[in-house]
Amino acid sequence: MAYIYEGVSRTFSEYLLVPNLTSEKCIPDKINLKTPIVKYKKGETPALKLNVPIVSAIMQSVSNDTLAIALARSGGLSFIFGSQSIENQAEMVRKVKKYKSGFVPSDSNLSVNDTLKDVLELKNKVGHSTIAITEDGTSKGRLLGLVTSRDYRLSRDSVDKKIRDFMTPFNKLIVGKVGITLSEANDILWENKLNCLPIVDDNERLEYFVFRKDYDDHKQNPNELLDSNKRLVVGAGINTRDYSERVPALVEAGVDILCIDSSDGYSVWQKDTIEYVKKNFKDVKIGAGNVVDKEGFMYLVEAGADFVKVGIGGGSICITREQKGIGRGQATSVIEVAKARDEYFEKTGIYIPICSDGGIVHDYHVVLALAMGADFVMMGRYFARFDESPTKKVKRGSNYVKEYWGEGSNRARNWQRYDMGGADNLKFEEGVDSYVPYAGKLKDNLDVTLSKVKSTMSSCGASSIEELQNTARMSIVSSTSIVEGGAHDVILKDHDF
Ligand code: IMP
Repeated sequence: MAYIYEGVSRTFSEYLLVPNLTSEKCIPDKINLKTPIVKYKKGETPALKLNVPIVSAIMQSVSNDTLAIALARSGGLSFIFGSQSIENQAEMVRKVKKYKSGFVPSDSNLSVNDTLKDVLELKNKVGHSTIAITEDGTSKGRLLGLVTSRDYRLSRDSVDKKIRDFMTPFNKLIVGKVGITLSEANDILWENKLNCLPIVDDNERLEYFVFRKDYDDHKQNPNELLDSNKRLVVGAGINTRDYSERVPALVEAGVDILCIDSSDGYSVWQKDTIEYVKKNFKDVKIGAGNVVDKEGFMYLVEAGADFVKVGIGGGSICITREQKGIGRGQATSVIEVAKARDEYFEKTGIYIPICSDGGIVHDYHVVLALAMGADFVMMGRYFARFDESPTKKVKRGSNYVKEYWGEGSNRARNWQRYDMGGADNLKFEEGVDSYVPYAGKLKDNLDVTLSKVKSTMSSCGASSIEELQNTARMSIVSSTSIVEGGAHDVILKDHDF
């Protein structure tokens, strides 16, 4: 007969935190959200830490280069989705690593033979009016001039007028040289009363722009997650099949950390993948998962995983539990794996960070996951709602929504994520194709989430994640008290009579 666990498996909304003494030492401004993401020995500093305990899911509809840049600038990290060609994924990683805060690659270029009509069309498409005119019309061509709205007058100029006849030519532009620092570039902008400064290399090829309007924006990102060369940190998802080609390409592109993306990580193929990476790329960090119990956790740790991801079936787009009857309540999974991690730490002095993946619905769920022993959380639905996610924003009725689909849906066709060791083993979906409410910019939303996270931690008397893990108290709530948790027994003012 099967082994039957005692007790039911539980999820986040079944728990509430009980306040501890709040004092000056844990007011929100003093709370430190830094957290390890890779294993380390007691007394040593982890090779990689997050500035905020949040990463974005390894999904087509979530983690591309644009979202990765926005999240790393806010202190978290994205794992660029692996369900795409190796070249495309490596290119996304490269774009994040090349991104320099304040140095913006040109996104709108024309050549001298194009016309004012082309300028107007491009301006409409990109939503701003600074257009680089390059020798070959590409973003990295030799810079021949610049067109902004100050260079033409619609009431006077014909739309057929050639750009060469009205652009500001290179010899009249003030430019910066590659290698210039952001503060030097800003000084030039201010001294010359410019709105933008093109940055060119020794052959006058355009590399970036620095914009005056971005000045304050850069000062507002004190949490940026940077490597030792001041480049943004980025991760990438891999699978258990094509790793011997994918991993070298990602490493070459500058990836900082890998994670095997799988709905069920307790498999020999994960072990093979980790062993390949550790043998061929000694310094490359790799996370593995997903698991939901001590056995799965220990298997991946012994295979050499640098962190372990926890969660099966709790994702908002996930139908694994319905389709296969496999999974476990997210809270119970995190609690059991965290216990195993702590025992392992006690025994060996090696700390393995764990990531709670999927099923975060409310901001306080992040704190619950951390209090239960997770070191950071992974979210998909949360990020899919933002401007920076790769999916289409569409209008439904009077509201805007964004598309969000699972990696196991027909739309993503990421069957490698469900590796059972056969060639073509999946004939059914484990995820759905859906919409989520559109919510605006990542930074604005994340700022609110982090402020709520800090406020909850403050009530728990914790000034760091480690302290929260060691001192938080929580209790299971009854279904009646869940009803009590929302507004009740009042008539809400927006209610229709
Ligand atoms: P969410 O934050 O609740 O939306 O969950 C995101 C997580 O769901 C991801 O990080 C994956 O672990 C998981 N996931 C992604 N796609 C699928 C799928 O198609 N089926 C099941 N789980 C999925």
